Amino acid sequence: MPEVRNIVVLTGAGISAESGLATFRAEDGLWEGHRVEEVATPAGFAADPGLVHAFYDARRARLGEVVPNAAHEALARLDATWPGELLIVTQNVDDLHERAGAKRLVHMHGKLLRGWCLACDGRFGWAAPMGEEAVCPACDAAGAVRPDIVWFGEMPYEMERIETALRSCDLFVSIGTSGAVYPAAGYVQTAKYCGARTVEINLAPSLGSVMFDEVRIGRAGVEVPRLVGELLAPL
Ligand code: OAD
Repeated sequence: MPEVRNIVVLTGAGISAESGLATFRAEDGLWEGHRVEEVATPAGFAADPGLVHAFYDARRARLGEVVPNAAHEALARLDATWPGELLIVTQNVDDLHERAGAKRLVHMHGKLLRGWCLACDGRFGWAAPMGEEAVCPACDAAGAVRPDIVWFGEMPYEMERIETALRSCDLFVSIGTSGAVYPAAGYVQTAKYCGARTVEINLAPSLGSVMFDEVRIGRAGVEVPRLVGELLAPL
């Protein structure tokens, strides 16, 4: 690996697959039995808030049954040890990166464990089922709390911080993401254009695979610890 100082790591659902969380794009195109428009758009929420709450309540409850795997742990080790800049950008709404100990972390698509009140615009931690009648802890309004998750058509979080890190990184690593959803799918191009070496880790080449200097085919639980070992070996 040529000399590396600043790293951006992008993760997707594939990094949590070995922990037992389903990825999004299954063979049948459904997300745990639902069409994406039903459960991951503002219009879907407006049409049937009960269904959308039930969907995210089930996924939030599932977090209690899973633990971080070797890939999350390796990235947390990299975060704790790496002397240069590092930003882990996850598209995942689970909390497995932070439970493994990662600190330099951005949840660009929000978090299952947060709520957002549409009455007062407050955002807060939320571990319990939410349902349609949830009461906002900030303003006491009932029935205006939604999952703090970025749905299709909404703006991902911390875009400026991510873009800045991409422009100054010399290594960009994409792990377990299909490359189907923008803006994350375009990050490899930004990093590459700004001179970074680009590496993909996936079970199979992603949609943007040709953009990567190196594609490592394999399970995240094996390939991520291997890559982190290579990065930390000279230190
Ligand atoms: P996808 O479900 O689209 O892609 C998961 C990727 O992980 C696929 O490319 C798999 O080949 C790969 N994969 C599966 N198991 C793996 C393993 N054990 N090791 C390595 N790779 C593995 O998930 P994302 O790309 O994360 O957005 O999806 C992006 C966004 O689409 C999500 O954040 C979500 C969704 O709609 C929102 O909710 C806004």
